[in-house]
Order: sequence, then C-alpha cells, then structure tokens
Amino acid sequence: MNSPAMLGLNIQAPAFVKNARLIAWVADMAALCKPARIHWCDGSEAEYNALCEQMVASGTLKRLNPAKRPNSYLAWSDPSDVARVEDRTFICSEKQEDAGPTNNWKAPAEMRATLQPLFDGCMAGRTMYVIPFSMGPLGSHIAQIGVELSDSPYVVTNMKIMTRMGRAVYDVLGVDGEFVPCVHTVGAPLAEGQADVSWPCNPTTKYIVHYPETREIWSYGSGYGGNALLGKKCLALRIASTMGRDQGWLAEHMLILGVTSPEGKKSHVAAAFPSACGKTNFAMLIPPQGLNGWTVTTIGDDIAWIKPHADGKLYAINPEAGYFGVAPGTNTLTNPNCMASLTRDVIFTNVALTDDGDVWWEGMGEAPAHAIDWQGKDWTPQLGKETGAKAAHPNARFTVAATNNPALDPAWDDPAGVPIDAFIFGGRRSTTVPLVTEARTWMEGVYMAATMGSETTAAAFGAQGVVRRDPFAMLPFTGYNMSDYFQHWLDMEHKLESLGHTLPKIFCVNWFRKGADGKFVWPGYGENMRVLKWMLDRIEGKVAGQDNLFGVGPTYEEIEWSGLDFSRAQFDSVTHIDKADWTAELALHSELFTLLAHHLPQELQATKVQIEQRLAAA
Ligand code: OXD
Ligand code: MN
Repeated sequence: MNSPAMLGLNIQAPAFVKNARLIAWVADMAALCKPARIHWCDGSEAEYNALCEQMVASGTLKRLNPAKRPNSYLAWSDPSDVARVEDRTFICSEKQEDAGPTNNWKAPAEMRATLQPLFDGCMAGRTMYVIPFSMGPLGSHIAQIGVELSDSPYVVTNMKIMTRMGRAVYDVLGVDGEFVPCVHTVGAPLAEGQADVSWPCNPTTKYIVHYPETREIWSYGSGYGGNALLGKKCLALRIASTMGRDQGWLAEHMLILGVTSPEGKKSHVAAAFPSACGKTNFAMLIPPQGLNGWTVTTIGDDIAWIKPHADGKLYAINPEAGYFGVAPGTNTLTNPNCMASLTRDVIFTNVALTDDGDVWWEGMGEAPAHAIDWQGKDWTPQLGKETGAKAAHPNARFTVAATNNPALDPAWDDPAGVPIDAFIFGGRRSTTVPLVTEARTWMEGVYMAATMGSETTAAAFGAQGVVRRDPFAMLPFTGYNMSDYFQHWLDMEHKLESLGHTLPKIFCVNWFRKGADGKFVWPGYGENMRVLKWMLDRIEGKVAGQDNLFGVGPTYEEIEWSGLDFSRAQFDSVTHIDKADWTAELALHSELFTLLAHHLPQELQATKVQIEQRLAAA
C-alpha cells in the first residue's frame, strides 16, 4: 500500500479535528482508496452551497427555477442505481447464525479479502470527503456519532440535510470519543484526464457491508439513498439494532408522531410499515373534517430509537434530521404538510424536470404538457399513456430538512425523546388482514409484528407486488438473527414489567384492502385519523371493541364517521376475517417459522397454535 505521502496527498487534519483514532483511520483509508484530495467537511452553509455549485457545473445537479423552488436542485441517477440493493447487502458477523437466514452473510475475513482490492485506488481522481455526523441530537446520551468517508459530493449534501453534520461533531468527539467508521465509494475511479459522468457509480459491482461486531460499514458501487447515506439504514438500523440487542434498547423502522385531542391530551405513537407504504404520509397526517380539534405532529418519518426510562415508560427519539421520502403519489391531498415542506431547500432525485424549471412526478397533480423524464428524455402525458413511460422513477425521492415541515413536533429534537403510548404495525395487503386489530397481550402483538406480510414496492430493487413476510418491517434492516430479534422484543416485556413500566399497546393495521373491483376500499391518508382515534379510545378504555381471531377489532359504532360517508358494508369488507384466507395465511406463517426455526421463541409457535385452534372453531 502506498503511503499518502508517496501519493503526494495532504492528509493533515485541520486544527479543529482532534480525535486521534479518526485522524489515523482517515490516513489509512486515504492510503487504500488513493483519492486525489481530502476535504474535511465542516457542515457550513457555505460548504453546502459550494458543493451544489460544483455539482451544477459537473452536471450531477440541475438548479431548479429559484422563483418556483428556491435553493432546490434535481439529480438524475444512473438507471442501474435507483434503489437499495438488498441482494448486495451483507451482515458479516463472525458466526453465520448471528446474521440468520434473512440476511446475506459472508465471514468477515472473506469479505475483507473481497473488498480490499475493490477499495484499493477506488477514489482515484476524486475527493475523499470526511463527513462527521450525529444520529440523534448532538451530544445527547442517546445519540451515536458516525464518520462517513465518501467520494460523492451528492452524499455530503444529502448527509447535511439528513443528519446533524459538521464541525460540532468533531467537538463532541473530542480527543478520544467513539464513532462508527463508514466508508463509501461510488466505485468509479477516474484515470488521469478521464472525464467524469453526471452520476458515477459501478453498474456491475455493488456491496453494502456491515461488520456488526466491530461496528463498521463499507459501501461500494452505489450513490443512491440507503446504499450511500450510511447514517440511515446502515447505521441507524442495521448497526444500531445490534447495539440495541447488546445494550437493552430498540432501533426500529418506525415513524414517530404526536397526537393531541381536542381536550389537549397528547399521546405518542410509533408505527412500523415496510418501505413505501405511506410512513411519511401517516407521520404528517392532517385530521379530516369531522375530527376537528385533533392535531398530529411529526417527530420522525422513518426510524425510531427507543429506550426504557426511569419513569416507567419507553422513550423514542428520531435519530435523523431530515426526510428522504418517496415523491410519486405525494400531492396536496395525500400529504399537504409534505408538499409544504418541499417548497424550498430540497434535493430531488429522479423526478421529472418541467419546462419552467420545476419538478413533477406521477400523482403530484395535473401533468405538464411536456417534461424531461428522470432519464433525460422528452416526456408527454400522451407518451406516458401510450408506452407506460414514467416521468419520474417510482422510487424517486426528495431530501429535505425536518425543520421545513409545518407539522414538526416541538419535541422532535428533544434529546430525552417522547414517551410511547402505542406501537402500530402495518403491511400493504389487498386481502386477509383487517383494518385494525389490537393485540390483547404483548405476546400477541409481537406475533402480529413478527408475521407481518406486505406486497413489495419500488423502494428496493426486485420483484414488485408479491407478498413477502417483513417481520416488524425490519426484514432488510435487522443487523442480526431475526429470531434473536423476536426474543429481544419478548424479553423487553419482562424487563419493563419488572421495572414497573407500563407497556405500550400494540396494534396491527392495513390501509390497503381492495374490493372485488380491485380498488382500495378504505380512503386512507387523513382518514386514518379515525383509526388512530379508535386506538387512543381503546387505550383510555372508552370503547370495548370486539374479539376477533387474533385480537380486538372495532365495532362500526366505535369509529367516528362524521364527515365521511363509509357504509357498514364497506366497513365489513375492510374488517372481515375470512376463514379460507386465514387458513392460507397461517400456512405462510408456518413457512416463515420454518425458515426462522433456529432460536425461534417457543412462545411464538404456541401463539400460532392458539390462533389455529380459534380459526378451527370459528
Ligand atoms: C426508505 C426505505 O428509504 O425504507 O425509508 O426504503
Ligand atoms: Mn424506510
């Protein structure tokens, strides 16, 4: 390995960086990746603006019309780099059984031997950015610090929005503070004099690698979203879930919202949905007509870190500082707060560019007569109709600071977090699963979450529309053996109860049931407030509910219907439990349990047997 000095590289850290391990690690990585230069990010506005300018000049970004979308930019990725790559994501624990059957596994030594030659010289001709970031409020005892080394200025600007990024992190790190080292390269070294492309990536080789025991992340070949913004899925879920297992807390794929009743009573809910199932919409919900006086405020839209507190409750923080949300389908009816958040200071990726320098995506509203699609081609509504060509990629995204959200909860940044009253789990199921069910016990709730299934979407590369089991919406994000993760959730009940804690209630929802005509029956979006209100009524003991196969559901009378025309027959069609559907469903639970047999908690099997007995008797 050439030393940085031999490469003529200045690795001198600026005076404000004092952490000895960080300085030594950057030198080692520079010697391996061989960048042309190193930039120690300070997270300033000036730095952000300069990088955006640089990317406008290089063609990575387009500046949007400042009269329409001030301080906003559009990036179009390479068509081979549009989503998370789950089949290229690895958990490299020492023992395969610790990664479990739901993760791709390679022995750490073998993976290191594979990555070493790939990373050798991978940043040639590029800048290595040193990106210090905090997941969680800076200096909070709950927060974790990471440092990402990346050769992508797009990553730097997105990390500035998505995390607390910059100079203050070096101060918190001090001389000997701990951090999670994260190395990222687009995997496209530039030979001397070689011209760059607008979205460098490696079209054929991608690796998103986690070493849970040494708490390291290495990412090669992609510049997109969760593959490249390593604070999000890699650190805040995969690595943090292993920290949570070891230290007695939970890192979850959950939004967090605050909900205030007309009487002023505030509750907090954490909700897990698989990717692209409307988490951002639910987190920013505006209560509908008929539920005037209720308000919903956002603490987080994707990730929650949840810890027991001495006062007997579970407290949650959002480790992120921004939203990296799916644009298609978002509009002023489905999510007005989100649309208001996107009026300025946004980085859009893979949406269409309109002729007046603004953005458009399917489901945003009336289509422009002409636009340039996410692949840089002319697009018209007619073409879309004739060929099915999409103006925006279905997994097109916006990156925006949480502080742009008009419904931001005042406690969103509180290092202490907010006390959780209920957990919600919800998949996308056109049949089988009813609108809402409350678990009668923690055990029943863990069973519901563990066996959750969802029809797949565009957030991850792969087949779409098939039901896959997505336990706790964590299938792609649990950094260890899924059955051990179930056990961790089950253990939480006993730990909390022995400390005198009040356990949150657990609910399972499904907004996506379809009728015989193939259309969604439940109107969703803001109307989901009616279901949320029923859950809060249950927690307060205001409604009795009625027992169903696997928990307690609402009666028609218990839901507040004013302002919505929703008949008893429609209600029955979204709450009905069909015996044949559930026989088939339970067979799929059995398949899941067979897959997860190693360390599967016996109580989950026992709960399934109870449900089967109830179904047989129904
Ligand atoms: C996301 C995802 O981007 O879950 O949040 O895929
Ligand atoms: Mn997500």
